[in-house]
This record gives sequence, structure tokens and C-alpha cells, in this order.
Amino acid sequence: MNKQYVGITSFDSFLLDLMNNYKKDQEPQIVNFRELVPQITNMDRYSHFIHAYPAKLLQQIPYLFLNTSIFSKEGDTILDPFCGTGTVLLEASIANRNAIGVDVNPLAALIARTKIFKQDIKNLENKVSEIKELFNLYQSSKCKYFIPMISNIEHWYDKKTIRKLSKIKHLIENIEDSQIKDFFNVVFSICCRKFSYSDPRISVPVKINEERFPEGHSLREASSKHLKFIKINKVFEFFIEQANKNIDRLRNYQNITMLNDNKLVVYNTDIKEIDSNLIENNSVQLILTSPPYVSAQKYIRASSLSLQWLELHNNNLASLDKKSIGREYFSPNEYKQFHKTGFKTIDAILFKIFEKNKLRAYITYTYLIEMQKTFQKSFTILKENGYFIMVIGNNTIAGYEFMTYEYLIEIAEKVGFSTELVLIDDIKSRGLMTKRNKTASVISREYIVVFKKDTNEN
Ligand SMILES: C[S@@+](CC[C@H](N)C(=O)[O-])C[C@H]1O[C@@H](n2cnc3c(N)ncnc32)[C@H](O)[C@@H]1O
Repeated sequence: MNKQYVGITSFDSFLLDLMNNYKKDQEPQIVNFRELVPQITNMDRYSHFIHAYPAKLLQQIPYLFLNTSIFSKEGDTILDPFCGTGTVLLEASIANRNAIGVDVNPLAALIARTKIFKQDIKNLENKVSEIKELFNLYQSSKCKYFIPMISNIEHWYDKKTIRKLSKIKHLIENIEDSQIKDFFNVVFSICCRKFSYSDPRISVPVKINEERFPEGHSLREASSKHLKFIKINKVFEFFIEQANKNIDRLRNYQNITMLNDNKLVVYNTDIKEIDSNLIENNSVQLILTSPPYVSAQKYIRASSLSLQWLELHNNNLASLDKKSIGREYFSPNEYKQFHKTGFKTIDAILFKIFEKNKLRAYITYTYLIEMQKTFQKSFTILKENGYFIMVIGNNTIAGYEFMTYEYLIEIAEKVGFSTELVLIDDIKSRGLMTKRNKTASVISREYIVVFKKDTNEN
């Protein structure tokens, strides 16, 4: 391991130094991204916080890699194939790069689009006033509204909330301009989660239960405070408050990017299946991404209430989950036999896991095979000498320390990438699950791996 770097001003020479060190000793270099990027003091920068999402990427990481000319220059195209809510895309736009985002989760794609698309702020403000007037009219008249199909709706919401959310949904549906509609759908999605009985501390919906904690316990107090908030039921007021906050955030983003004229797109699709009509081969200079971890986050389940309210799931959450890398649901028929990846070291650990837990072995196997497909796609999409930077953590699977980053390096190198640098950062403050099942333990370190499509070496 190497010395600790703190408070750097020139990322170029610092990174070149690290890359030289790595070339010499092939050891991961320890850094602390929060300290390396003192430029970021308040995380609620620009439009980063327009909507919550599990395991968002630390902003400092794309900030650092996009504010150096080693991996890309102004005007180049950056791709995030697992863009989530668009942390990389936003930093790329601010750093005057073109950005392409891909995510299989329709809610993530909606948030990412809204985060980076430039809209006329005046139009958003006018729409807020219009919605306020219409909602008041709506309250006083007997207008019809439609309640979407949400499984177990009365388990998750009280009746008054269902009515109010349905009315807001109806008003948003009547907005013609698709970008303005997206903006309000993002705000609506915040309300769908906030006014549900799902525990705000847990990323997937789990019904809040104050009785679980003894009298006087801080979590009991937090739970009863949340339940009171729902009971007071100021759904519409909260919706307007969030809309205004997000307008301010977008205004800040637009002010900083006013002179940039980059191409920014987001595709809601499976990266493994991405068509070359959407992203041309040899067209991207830098891929910068935080892929899903093996069975660490359930993105589709975490978004399920919003997906149903917004009707973004084609009435089939399971089919969305099937396309998600890192998923956990498989039938016993699929996992009763041992499956090999063809990589000796990986198969050895997979077999140990298989002996303890067949399902976990299959989840991990599928994850690695699907990541291999992603590396293959990425290799084709990247320009010659382009870079692929990946942020990933290890985890414990069936009691075994699973060195995901090492296995992914092995797979990526087989695909043709060369490994230029490995960094380690701590992620203690990231929004990973607090309560985890017995077979997958807490992930405590984050690895940043820099690959190059170095065609000369192949
Ligand atoms: C770690 S999160 C990315 C978070 C993102 N960096 C942010 O800051 O919001 C990983 C993302 O990969 C997405 N994902 C999983 N499987 C995918 C696939 N096959 N194609 C595209 N996206 C996928 C998930 O929906 C999730 O949003």
C-alpha cells in the first residue's frame, strides 16, 4: 500500500504519479477522495440532489477524473453504462464533455434525464403556479381522478394520501411538454416514497414499525415522527416545496453550464443489449461508471412504489429485475448445478460458495458473466486508447471474502483491457443497506480501477 495523498491542486501530475507508482509495484494506491477534492464542500451542488437513489456515486470521483486531461478532454464523449441518477453525466456536462447515460431502471433514467437536460426555468416556475391553481380547483370540485394499479396500495398508503397523490398524478399527466412533465414526475416520485409507510432508513420498501424499538429509543422517535408527518398529510404542499427546491438546483446547474453546448442523452435500456445505432462503435473516449455490486442493492425493488405510481414498469417489475445485473431471484432449476466462468481462480471460489449455498454461487456466477458482456460491449464502444474507469467494492459471500475488483480485472483483461491504475477509497458514509442478510456482509472499501483500450498491446 502507498502513502496517503491529501488536498491536491493539480490532478494531472498527481494521477500520473499514481499511475507510475502502480506500474512499478502493481499495488492499489490509497487515496481519500473527499480530501483530494476540497473544491466540493457542499454535496447539494447543482442538480445532484433532485432525487434520492441507493448507492449514488460519490461526486468527488467523477469530478476528479473529469477535471484532468489524461483520460478525456473538453468536447469528448463520456459514457456511464450504469448511470443511475446521473452523477457522472452531470459532472461530465459541467466539465464540458458530451455525455451518454444508460440505465435499465426507468426511474433512474427519468431522474438522470431531468438532472442534466436544460430547461427554461421560467416555464417550470409558470407550471408550478398553474398546478397550484388547478389543484385548488380540483380540491373544491368533484373532478374524477384515476388510481393506478399498485400492489397492496392500502398497506403502503393511507386513503387520504392515495387520493392526493392520484390528483397530483392527473395534473402532471396533462402536461404536454415532455421535459416539463419529466421534471414534475421526478418531484412526484419523491412524494410517492415520502408519504408511504415504507421505512425511510431502508432502501427497499419495508413497512415502518415504531413498536420494534423500545420506548425512548432514537429510532422509535424517528419512526413516530415520520408517521406523524404522513398523518398531517400535507402532500401537495410538500410537492410544491420540492418542485421549488429542484427548480433552484436546476437554475444553479444551468448557470454553471450556460456556455457549454454539449450533447447529453440518456437511454433507458439494458447495456448488454445496447444497439450500435444508439452508441456507435469506437465513439466514446471515456467510460466512467459504478456498476452494481453482487446482490448489494435491489434497484428495481427500491424504486417499486414510484415505478408503479408513474406506470413506468409495464405492469411487470419482475421483467425489469431480470435485466438488472446483480439480481438475486432465480429458480432452483437454474442454480442446482454448478456453473463455471472459465476463469480458474474465480471458479475455485465459486465452487466453495456453491458447497455452502447454491443460490449465492449462481447469483455470483451470473453477475460475473453479465459484467463480462458489459466489458465486451464497452470495449467495442470505446475509441482506441480510450479509458474505462470503474468504481466497485468487494463483499462477503456465503462467509467468503469475495474480491470482486480482482475478479473483474481478470475478466476485463481477458476482454482486452490493460489495467493502468487501482485506487482504494473508504465508503463509510455511502447509502448502502444498513441491514443485510447473513450471507452477504457489509462492503467497507471502494476500489477505483482504470482500464485502457490499449490495442497495441494485444
Ligand atoms: C451503483 S448504481 C449507479 C448509481 C449512479 N452512479 C448514481 O450516482 O446514481 C448501478 C445502476 O446500474 C443499473 N443497472 C443494473 N443492471 C443494468 C443493466 N443491465 N443495464 C443498465 N443499467 C443497469 C441499476 O439500475 C443502477 O441504477
